[in-house]
Amino acid sequence: MRRAVCPGSFDPVTNGHLDIVQRAASLFDEVVVAVGVNKSKNRLFEAEERIAMLEEACAEWSNVRVDGFTGLLTTYCVENGVHAIVKGLRAVSDFDYELQMAQMNSSLTDVETVFVPTSPAWSFLASSLVKEVATFGGDVSGLVPPFVLERLTARLAERRATGG
Ligand code: PNS
Repeated sequence: MRRAVCPGSFDPVTNGHLDIVQRAASLFDEVVVAVGVNKSKNRLFEAEERIAMLEEACAEWSNVRVDGFTGLLTTYCVENGVHAIVKGLRAVSDFDYELQMAQMNSSLTDVETVFVPTSPAWSFLASSLVKEVATFGGDVSGLVPPFVLERLTARLAERRATGG
């Protein structure tokens, strides 16, 4: 059984993330979408909300499950029998940082990192941009699943109402 992990913050999950997860699911026996829950960055959605959205988004793929992790990704991989970390590369600008993380991770344990080129349709897509565009009223309906759009719209309205 070859198990891979697709790690990330997923704040929130986009169609670009899902493209990578779906393709990882065709390459490995099992894929765990691992949501980093302990990063210091301010998040729009709590870890439980990010996980719930991913579970809904990945429900149709029988060999994909969603989990949260704290601490080092490599520790999660060792403790969960994960053989490979799958990362999407949108452009050469992603490469430097991703290569550095891949090399650090492989120095910590013998897990491999597999880079998957993002589909051209999603090469400009990032959760941070989706949030920014949606905050200023732009149309992001083609970039995230409909239920994510609903939650995003509601969360941004709550933030506006509370001045956050
Ligand atoms: O969606 P992101 O923010 O690019 O996800 C980054 C993530 C969560 C995959 C990365 O920050 C990570 O692996 N964090 C866990 C802590 C860790 O292992 N750090 C060492 C990386 S070499």
